Amino acid sequence: MSDKVRLGIIGTGGMGQGHCTQIPDLEEAELTCICDIDPETCKSVSEKYGVRGLTNYKELIDSGLAEAVVIATPHYFHPPIGIYALRAGLHVLSEKPIAVTIGAAEELVAAARESGKIFTVMFQFRTEPYFRRAQEIIASGELGEIYRTLLIYTDFRTQTYYNSGDWRATWVGEGGGVLINQAPHALDQFVALGGLPHEVIGFTRTRAHDIEVEDSASAICRYENGAHGYLTASTDEYPGTFLHEIAGEKGKLVYRDKKLYFAGVTPDVSECARTNLEPWGGPKAEMKEVELTPCETGHRAVLRNFLRTILGKEDLLIDGSVATGSLELSNAIYLSARQNRKVHIPLDREEIDEFFADLRAKSVPKSGVKKIIQTDPQHKREA
Ligand SMILES: NC(=O)c1ccc[n+]([C@@H]2O[C@H](COP(=O)([O-])OP(=O)(O)OC[C@H]3O[C@@H](n4cnc5c(N)ncnc54)[C@H](O)[C@@H]3O)[C@@H](O)[C@H]2O)c1
Repeated sequence: MSDKVRLGIIGTGGMGQGHCTQIPDLEEAELTCICDIDPETCKSVSEKYGVRGLTNYKELIDSGLAEAVVIATPHYFHPPIGIYALRAGLHVLSEKPIAVTIGAAEELVAAARESGKIFTVMFQFRTEPYFRRAQEIIASGELGEIYRTLLIYTDFRTQTYYNSGDWRATWVGEGGGVLINQAPHALDQFVALGGLPHEVIGFTRTRAHDIEVEDSASAICRYENGAHGYLTASTDEYPGTFLHEIAGEKGKLVYRDKKLYFAGVTPDVSECARTNLEPWGGPKAEMKEVELTPCETGHRAVLRNFLRTILGKEDLLIDGSVATGSLELSNAIYLSARQNRKVHIPLDREEIDEFFADLRAKSVPKSGVKKIIQTDPQHKREA
């Protein structure tokens, strides 16, 4: 086996070009080809990197030029392109979200399983030391049974951002707003660390932007064990907040601004409530910042791990199948919000397909869009 993976990138807009810039820093990869449906973008990117450019993803996959692909097209295309690539024997890294609907995501996961190829999803938060450490703390049992979760993920986008592509912020092109585009990383964290709720009451709102999808979304959740959870995500708040709390019987975990805090609680919270003889008593607990071990993070770390797994040098950090949980939660919030009712997870797959098909059918195509291709400056800094 060669020590470099021959890599193709499909969809070379803002994010795809961001990935192109990372490749020279990755000794495990050789960029051999790119694909973009837009001929001008295809030409300029292929010339810039001196690689073959194709405008049809099937031609790239069938060309034999790549043994692995990164998919960075608008979301609806992730499953069909991923499935085609896996069935052709290529390894696949899909951008987030894995898909728009839970059914489409599961088809992609099934294709990966059947192919035996490596399949991962760009959930770069999972590479962060705080995320890895939080997973360890939870797995070790130090938190005890979880009884409450909270996620606040508020961010900001301008109307110019939404106007920069005809697919953006439309039901037909994107399949939602903040829940499907900006929040998937945080929702993945919410589910990976706190579990997948089984009942959801969702609310969505479009407040500060002229778009047909939501720029803010909130939900109240209940978990199988009775625990409560609440979350909110938006692109209409400034300055933004990223706060995640998980309260357990034996401890409390708080994440804020890339810092992780943990308080071990003795005795267990419920036990103390029952047995402490002081009216204003309470358990012993001290919230301390958790020491974190620095490591490579972000897109580059996900890409490198994908490549090193293909080369047999590492285990896969993010199995693509993990991406279904947070997508099911986001599908549930949309369904609940638009039908004004509590919904149960697991969702009825057919109902969700019909629900999104209806939204797509009623979607109003955008006019007068001035396409702007720009990599999020946050990701440029990584390079
Ligand atoms: N992981 C992250 O942090 C992160 C950040 C930004 C974007 N993304 C994801 O990357 C994807 C692309 O987002 P973007 O901001 O780069 O969008 P973009 O509009 O800038 O780029 C998308 C590109 O895909 C091309 N394209 C569309 N359909 C195609 C097809 N069928 N075949 C080949 N090319 C096609 C378009 O011409 C365009 O150049 C989205 O799914 C988004 O959620 C992830």
